[in-house]
Amino acid sequence: MTGDLHTGAGGEAAPVTGVASERAVATETTREAWNTRLGFVLAAVGSAVGLGNMWRFSYITAEKGGAAFVILYILMTLVVGIPIMMAEFALGRGTRRSSIGALRLTGGPRWAPLGYLFIAAGILILSFYSVIAGWVMRYALRGIASGFPTEAAEYFDQIASGAPAMGFHLVFMIVTIGIVMGGVQKGIERASVIMMPALFLIVVGLAVWASTLAGSGAGYRFYLTPNFEALLSLDTLAAAASQAFFSLSLGMGCMLTFSSYLSRQESLPREATVISFADFSVAFISGLVVFPVIFALGLQGAVGASTLGALFISLPGAFLEMGGVGRIVGVLFFTALFIGALTSAISLLEVVVSALIDEWRIPRRTAAIGAGILITLIGLWPAADLNALGAIDAVVSNIFLPVGALGTALFVGWLMKNPIDEVAHGAADGLRPWLKGWLWTLRIVVPILLVLVLSSSLPATREALAGLFGGG
Ligand code: PHE
Repeated sequence: MTGDLHTGAGGEAAPVTGVASERAVATETTREAWNTRLGFVLAAVGSAVGLGNMWRFSYITAEKGGAAFVILYILMTLVVGIPIMMAEFALGRGTRRSSIGALRLTGGPRWAPLGYLFIAAGILILSFYSVIAGWVMRYALRGIASGFPTEAAEYFDQIASGAPAMGFHLVFMIVTIGIVMGGVQKGIERASVIMMPALFLIVVGLAVWASTLAGSGAGYRFYLTPNFEALLSLDTLAAAASQAFFSLSLGMGCMLTFSSYLSRQESLPREATVISFADFSVAFISGLVVFPVIFALGLQGAVGASTLGALFISLPGAFLEMGGVGRIVGVLFFTALFIGALTSAISLLEVVVSALIDEWRIPRRTAAIGAGILITLIGLWPAADLNALGAIDAVVSNIFLPVGALGTALFVGWLMKNPIDEVAHGAADGLRPWLKGWLWTLRIVVPILLVLVLSSSLPATREALAGLFGGG
């Protein structure tokens, strides 16, 4: 793997101030780099597109009443998502370090703890993400081998927790670890370049097919006709913002880490826009699959009373009712979901592995196996207990990610020297005036919104924790 290491940014000095000697180290060491720009973009899209788009997006949209939520989600992607992604890129590419190092190098040792928060978020997300990905594998294989189960709810109860869930979680983690061990180019980039186009094709094909279903109209109406009262609710706004972070892989150093392998010739605003647009598109198109299918079969009640498992029960039920075509469509759906989950899991593990390599000079293979084993062990808990899974998801998505994003916004907005210079490097000249707007969004607008998000999601977090400790 070390054969194709080379310095990504042509050895230019990072344009941020920090501990001078450390900066020298950062620019001298050979660091892995993406092979092509497209490789970076697909890897970042691979990180962003995942269970968050095809599963979490649909169930939260259902829970929050449809189109109004979608509008707020688009707004939050534009106003909070893209600016924070650009901030992470500025830090990662500017320092060419993974999260802890990037923060320490730029802001001094006081800021390293924010990097540790990122790492903790990565570990926790992957621990439950892998469990859900295990269910997905299970459904795909079941669809292929013998068709979807007739007793959908019972089947879900059987496989979603306990030994079966642990087994598939383990298998999924082994695949993830294997890819990350391969390195940036031969592991992550290669996997993304092959798998992401396949995912796009499948999702678009499924949406076209769904439009042919009799009765799909009600699904489109629910999904696309906004209820303007919901638009005004703070709670929906907060849900939209936290969905945007989760879906764009923000607030935990993931985009930061990926951009640390990126050349300084690329335009960061352009990449952030392309990646966010692709991420939104997959979420939106997935909705164009899920809602028509669910409504065509009259299953909307099950999804409206949304729980973690709703889609895992109603969708396979729908596929079963559709007979032979349903089986093929269902297998394709779960295959796309699996691809999305895998490319996201890779990026979650890479956040941890990259920090181990940079900070402690641990070889990649050892780092991937070590971190992977730790995460696999932690994941046994959500694999054993669905309430634990919900609680970890709530704590990380509602607290860790917004706090991480808030820290990133304030750090890049107020502390980093000349973030505009880093972001402008490689970008079109005409963009420069806009970058002032970006900086002030990051300084003022984003923090205000994040504080709102944090405060209004506290009750939901408390509820999830009560479900766990209250024996619910
Ligand atoms: N963005 C991924 C998804 O939508 C999840 C994720 C979050 C991945 C944070 C990496 C970091 O499924």
